[in-house]
Amino acid sequence: MPETPETRATTGARIHLENLTKVYAGSPNPAVENVNLEVKAGEIVIFVGPSGCGKSTTLKMINRLIEPTSGRIRIGDEDVTDMDPVKLRRKIGYAIQASGLFPHMTVAQNIALVPKMIGWSRTKIKNRVEEMLDLVGLDPAEFHGRYPRQLSGGQQQRVGVARALAADPPVLLMDEPFGAVDPITRDHLQDELIRLQHELHKTICFVTHDFDEAIKIGDRIAVLRERSHIAQFDTPEAILTNPADDFVSGFVGAGAALKRLNLTRVRDVGVVDFPTAGVDDPLQSIFDRLRSSSHNELLLLDRNRRPYKWLRRGDLSLAKGSLARAGTLVADTVTRDATLRDALEAVLTDNAGRVAVTGRRGEYIGVVDMETLMNNVHELLEADRLEAAEHQHELQEQRARQMQLEQEGLHGTGGAEGGRGVTA
Ligand SMILES: Nc1ncnc2c1ncn2[C@@H]1O[C@H](COP(=O)(O)OP(=O)(O)OP(=O)(O)O)[C@@H](O)[C@H]1O
Ligand SMILES: [Mg+2]
Repeated sequence: MPETPETRATTGARIHLENLTKVYAGSPNPAVENVNLEVKAGEIVIFVGPSGCGKSTTLKMINRLIEPTSGRIRIGDEDVTDMDPVKLRRKIGYAIQASGLFPHMTVAQNIALVPKMIGWSRTKIKNRVEEMLDLVGLDPAEFHGRYPRQLSGGQQQRVGVARALAADPPVLLMDEPFGAVDPITRDHLQDELIRLQHELHKTICFVTHDFDEAIKIGDRIAVLRERSHIAQFDTPEAILTNPADDFVSGFVGAGAALKRLNLTRVRDVGVVDFPTAGVDDPLQSIFDRLRSSSHNELLLLDRNRRPYKWLRRGDLSLAKGSLARAGTLVADTVTRDATLRDALEAVLTDNAGRVAVTGRRGEYIGVVDMETLMNNVHELLEADRLEAAEHQHELQEQRARQMQLEQEGLHGTGGAEGGRGVTA
């Protein structure tokens, strides 16, 4: 039977926090007070909130790196509040900012840590390390023997995620895992987490400061105020369209419509075909393809079928028999899991009116063009304008009612005996 989202097993487990409270020794006020929250099996829940509101404390109570002062934690059907924390942590992956890798261990040793502790055989561990590196997009042969200092920030984060997932835990806790990398790497790591989750269906609690990251990744978002009091716990759509109060609106920030670009993925809009050629194709055939196509441009792919250069008709006449100096290097690509916002940014970066969409190994799949993106932006802005107009209309009606009431009050009509107007 083919695997579909419906038939695929959820490997995650439900997390249930009940009246969870933490008072640090010597501190007069709780850092976390009476948190009640349920994360469904297979769901990604994001904790966002201002610095110091207790996000990390809440997260670390789930794997008991911090002992709760009171309250209960349930994972699946099991109350784990009093379980041996070391045993508990083997069932919970944990990834933090700046990866938290052990510097004196190789990548492979870092990933093998928990599988080793729980007594897996050497062969099983070896296979698992390879599988995990592959899963997070690192070539096992190239990376398994390196030390963390020999990796870029983004690569370290990938290894951190591979390590957290190595023993196949049902639950994954991530505390600002992408907080320390540059924005472009961060986007790619986010895309990869989304892709991983499509395959794995873990239960994930993810902490971030960044509301845009929250709407991009989260199935649901818990917006927290001080002491981890829940200001709103809902889907990204619901929070963007209906923030519960001023605190939440403040967090959502300006431009809610454009933020909704973060909710639509490239896979949901039209990825279209584009004329392509390989770097080894004869110049004449490339030329013919350009001339016969309705585009005046084609995408040149490298030997691994990865987007390499945009070639225009004019470029070829200047090429003088070689492609080396012809065309414009592809500056940015997106995956099918990228958001429309990422795609829009990439289109603007590349300045070519389109962006190439690539698969897991960077191979060409198709393109998304500016027109598709703009249509989506227009729809969102239109929806926003309608909403604003409705709101304006309501305000005007309210004001009119108010004026009528005042008029009636002034002229002594309505009032006590008739009761008119008061409930209008
Ligand atoms: N070990 C500790 N001892 C005493 N107080 C602590 C300890 N750890 C955190 N706190 C306090 O508890 C509160 C919540 O801290 P926490 O680290 O959970 O916040 P956070 O939401 O993760 O913040 P940030 O976004 O800055 O990481 C803060 O006021 C902090 O000063
Ligand atoms: Mg924190």
